[in-house]
Amino acid sequence: MKEAVEKLVETACRALSGLEEDPKALDQARIRFLGRKGELAQLFKELGKVPEEERREVGRLLNVAKLRLEEAFSEAAQRSRDVEAARRESIDVTVPGRRPPAGRLHPITQTATEVCRIFNWLGFETVEGPEVELDYYNFEALNIPKDHPARDMQDTFYISEEVVLRTHTSPIQVRTMEKRKPPVRVIAPGRTYRRDSDVTHTPMFHQVEGLMVGKGISFGDLKGILTTFVHQMFGPEVGLRFRPSFFPFTEPSAEVDIECVMCRGGGCRVCKGTGWLEILGSGMVDPEVYKYVGYDPEEVSGFAFGMGIERIAMLKFGIDDLRLFFENDLRFLEQF
Ligand code: PHE
Repeated sequence: MKEAVEKLVETACRALSGLEEDPKALDQARIRFLGRKGELAQLFKELGKVPEEERREVGRLLNVAKLRLEEAFSEAAQRSRDVEAARRESIDVTVPGRRPPAGRLHPITQTATEVCRIFNWLGFETVEGPEVELDYYNFEALNIPKDHPARDMQDTFYISEEVVLRTHTSPIQVRTMEKRKPPVRVIAPGRTYRRDSDVTHTPMFHQVEGLMVGKGISFGDLKGILTTFVHQMFGPEVGLRFRPSFFPFTEPSAEVDIECVMCRGGGCRVCKGTGWLEILGSGMVDPEVYKYVGYDPEEVSGFAFGMGIERIAMLKFGIDDLRLFFENDLRFLEQF
C-alpha cells in the first residue's frame, strides 16, 4: 500500500510535466488523480482493508500525498496561466495587417462619374432614361421621321415596330423636357446600342447626354460650358475646336475636337496625323424638337450635346483598344 501511494504521486507528477501548454489536458489530469472518483480517492477507500497496526501510518502518507498533489496541480495551473499571458503579450500589434483584395469601379463607370461630376459642378442635374425605348423618343420626337435618311446613320436593334434599344442617349432630352418646364439643365449617362461590331465598335457602349434650355441660352453658352468641361476633364492646356456638323435635332450643330492627348497636336497614329480628336456632338436644340414637348421656341432656346464614354476613357487613360473594356481581365481592370 505504501508503494502504491508513492507510485501514484510519482505517476501524477510525471503526467503533469509539460501540461502547462494545454489547459484542457491539465484539467483532465487533475480529475484523474484528485477527482472525487479519482485514483487518490480510490486509495483512501482501500484504507479500511489495511491491517490495524499500519493504518495510521498509511493514512498519514495518503494525506501527505494529497497535499503534495494539490500543490503540484495548483503550481501547474499557475504556470499554464503564465504561458497563456505570455502568448497574448507576444502578439505584435505593430505588424502591418493583411489587406483583403478590394474591388473597384470599372474605368467606364469611373469616367461617366467624372463627366457627371464636372457637369453637376456646373449646375447640371444627373437624370436617366430607359434603355429599351420607344421609336418615338429615339427618333420621331428628335426630328428623325420614319423615312428620314438619318435613320441610316444608326444601325438600330428593333424589339418590335415601335420599340428599339436606344441608339443614343438623346431620347432623354425629350423625356426630360416633356416632364419639366424650362429652365432645364441635365446630364444623362447610360448604355446605348447599335448593330456594330469591329475593332472600334461594340454593340453596347455608353454615352452621356447634356441639355440646357432656358431664356436666352446662346451658342456662346454652349461653347463656354463645353470648353470648361474639356479643361476640367483633360487639363487647362488642352486646345479644342468647334467644327460645323449636322444632327437632325440640333441647328446649328458642331462637333468638338480636342488636341490629340497622345502627341499634343503634333500628329500621330491615334489622331491619324491630324493632331485633333473628335470627342462629342453638339448643337442648339432644333425648334422642331420643342414642338414635340410643348416648349415655345420663341420663348426659350438651348443646346444639347452627346459624347461616347469609351472614347473619353480611352483618351483619359491612354488606352488604345476598345475591346479591353469588355473583356473583364482583372490585370487590365486593376490598373484603374
Ligand atoms: N446623339 C448624337 C449621337 O449619338 C450626339 C448628339 C447629342 C449630337 C446631342 C447633338 C446633340 O451621335
